[in-house]
Amino acid sequence: MKLFDVYPLNDITIVKAQGSYVWDDNGVQYLDMYGGHAVISIGHTHPHWVKRIEEQLNKIAFYSNSVHIPLQQELAAKLGKVSGKEDYQLFLLSSGAEATENALKLASFHIGKKKEVAFSKSFHGRTSLAVAVTDNPAIVAPVNETGNVIFCPFNDEKALEKCFADHGKEISSVIIEGIQGVGGINVADEKFLKKIRVLCDQHNAVYVADSVQCGYGRSGQFFSHDAAGVNADIYTMAKGMGNGFPVAGILIAPHIQPKHGMLGTTFGGNQLACAAALAVLEVIEEENLIEMAKQRGMYIKNRLKNIDGIENIRGRGLMIGFDVPAELKDLRKKLLYDFNVFTGEAKPNVIRLLPSLAISKKQTDEFLDALQEAIEEIKSQKAVTA
Ligand SMILES: Cc1ncc(COP(=O)(O)O)c(C=O)c1O
Repeated sequence: MKLFDVYPLNDITIVKAQGSYVWDDNGVQYLDMYGGHAVISIGHTHPHWVKRIEEQLNKIAFYSNSVHIPLQQELAAKLGKVSGKEDYQLFLLSSGAEATENALKLASFHIGKKKEVAFSKSFHGRTSLAVAVTDNPAIVAPVNETGNVIFCPFNDEKALEKCFADHGKEISSVIIEGIQGVGGINVADEKFLKKIRVLCDQHNAVYVADSVQCGYGRSGQFFSHDAAGVNADIYTMAKGMGNGFPVAGILIAPHIQPKHGMLGTTFGGNQLACAAALAVLEVIEEENLIEMAKQRGMYIKNRLKNIDGIENIRGRGLMIGFDVPAELKDLRKKLLYDFNVFTGEAKPNVIRLLPSLAISKKQTDEFLDALQEAIEEIKSQKAVTA
């Protein structure tokens, strides 16, 4: 049987990982500035995480949500403490798209209205409603098309006010990434997030903070949306939550009440997933990783500003992007194949940095030196051939 060929692949097979490094099947070591797509929060194969999962595996990996699972309550308490949202409620899932799907569905159940507001360059996942609120027609199948989504320009308060003035009676929720990831590292203005809060309150709509990529400490705060100083009604979480173990969830404000049967999932909140998620939070606390992400991020951004050739350095914490001009279009490939550094990308010309929150100062220097050298090499090759 063949694999369904949907991923454009780098010709590399990763077989081992530790901290911020991964190794291929030829023993070549790579620095992981991509965090396996923003997933690696506490570092690859962190010993505490491995031990927690191993111990749980030897007790029980899975039993369904039809019985008590005390680990879920333990996780909720820890998450409340680390995120500062102690009065919120937790519903556990397995992927980011599922978190989006359930957040928007719950909002609509709660408010009894149909329309969602989303923003230009958004990405919220690939399942039906998640892809419908994603601003990329190329990945929306005919069956996912719905008249219920209104797209507004990102960070445009006037346009959002007009949207609510025109459709406020029908709007169930507004969904926004605190820092857009796939869209190219675009930071939501604090004023804009405050405006969303005000408009949602005025028009009885739910503010959904997509924190799948920008959450879990990556921005230097637990939720990047918190920079605005207002609370969302629902936060979605995935990627960094399990450090590679598939676990996701939504945090739900206390005024949104559950009903039996309203939401459900087979795998969400299983014992093994809870153990992985607890291990992640324990390490985040123990190693002070949210503060580390903030400091390392500031250091990287400051040094990037002194590197000639790259443009528009932006982002917060360890979610950083910059534009690569046409003359350096091969920079990402060169970093990977000649300097053995993984980075992320966003179309058409953005390099995204999403390393583990536990990356060391030495490793950030290793990356920045490689970047500088790679740029110089491309420029000198161009000069020779010109
Ligand atoms: C902001 C955001 N939301 C949702 C998703 C979907 O997550 P998943 O791929 O786990 O379904 C992603 C994935 O990249 C994301 O970046």
